[in-house]
Formats: sequence, structure tokens, C-alpha cells
Amino acid sequence: MRYAELLKEIRKELDIPTPEIRAKQALRCTYKWSLFRDVVDWKDKTVLDIGCCEGYSTAEALEMGAKSALGVDRDFRYIQTAVELQKRIGAENLGFILSPWEQFEANRKFDIVLCLGFIHHILAENYEEQFERVCALSTDTVVMELRVNTNSALELQVWEKRGGGGNKLTKASYGWLRDKFNKLGFGIVHQAFVAKGEREVWVAKRK
Ligand SMILES: C[S@@+](CC[C@H](N)C(=O)[O-])C[C@H]1O[C@@H](n2cnc3c(N)ncnc32)[C@H](O)[C@@H]1O
Repeated sequence: MRYAELLKEIRKELDIPTPEIRAKQALRCTYKWSLFRDVVDWKDKTVLDIGCCEGYSTAEALEMGAKSALGVDRDFRYIQTAVELQKRIGAENLGFILSPWEQFEANRKFDIVLCLGFIHHILAENYEEQFERVCALSTDTVVMELRVNTNSALELQVWEKRGGGGNKLTKASYGWLRDKFNKLGFGIVHQAFVAKGEREVWVAKRK
């Protein structure tokens, strides 16, 4: 919760409003982390955090012992807040890049790739390609929090949240995810519900 408080302070100073959803998200982040923190070996690992938002998870990865952590997000306000967080923590091995993921060109690979609450924002027609890009950047572990359905069929479902203003999301079936991770050379080492029937955390490790 340490970073949640610090982020609240930073938003206030930068005059960035803190909508209700941010407060909820901070709680959700803390809960999410409790679901996978202890099954990942962070020690001396390099970490990429895709869709890093204000950098909560990026900073948390360092706290867990990672050697370095880099966050990428397309939203200027989030990156502005994340950079301020980095300054306050004073960690030189923490960095942030403002970029849409689709245009992000990594010049290296990372031991651990975090992809939390992000991949389901990718449209179904681009989902497979972007999923593969995420996994290709990891030499060891991928942690994904994503929307799923429990179907064993190979299926990507277009899903529209009620009252979501026409915002379309993509849900991958269990069958699709198991098949895809397997084909990309990963085994699933951990799976946990974030919200039953909706979001799950999957931890995949290179075989
Ligand atoms: C639901 S938030 C999840 C944030 C954080 N990873 C977490 O677990 O709380 C999704 C984040 O992904 C970012 N995002 C969505 N689409 C993106 C894209 N195409 N490229 C880069 N960032 C994107 C949003 O700006 C937002 O910060």
C-alpha cells in the first residue's frame, strides 16, 4: 500500500484529479499482487510492465528485488505521475516510457513481463499478434491479468461491458490461452481468480 499513498500525494501536487476508480484500482493492485507475488522469483530479474498506468506494479517489482523495471503506457498523465514516483523513490533502475504498446520497440528482452489488466483492451483481430509480442519479450516469466472465459474451446470472444460506452474488450478462453502459451514454449505455473468469472491472473514460465 506504500506506493498507493505516495501516488495519491503526487496526484494532488500535480493537480491531477483522483477519480474514485483510481482509489479502487490501488486496492485492486494490492490484492492482485497478493495473488502472484510469492510464486514469481523476482530476485535480480529485469522486468517490463506493459500498460503500467502510474507505475504501481513497476515500482512493486523493484521492491520485490528485481534488478530493474521499465513501465510502458500510452497515457501522458499516468506516465507523468509514474516519473514523479520514480523521482521520489530515487531509484535509478526504474524507468517509464510514454508509448502505445503497438509502437513500442524493445531493443532487448526482459526476464519477467508483467501484463496486468492490459491485453483485453486489444481488439480481437489484433489480439493474437499482440499476445505473441508480449510473450516474445520474456526470457523467463509472463504474468498476465486478463479477462477470460472458462471454455476449453479455442476462442477469442468480443465482449462489451454493460454501460461501457461501446468499448469492446477481448476475452480469451481457457482453451485458447493454454494452447497459445504451450505453442509459445510456456507452461502455466499459477492461476488465480481476481474476480470470479471475469478476471484472472495467469503466471506462465518458459519450459
Ligand atoms: C486497466 S489499466 C491497468 C493498469 C495496471 N497495469 C494495473 O494492473 O492496475 C490499463 C492500462 O493500460 C494502458 N493502455 C491501454 N491500451 C494501451 C496501449 N495500446 N498501449 C499502451 N498502454 C495502453 C492504459 O493507459 C492503462 O494505464
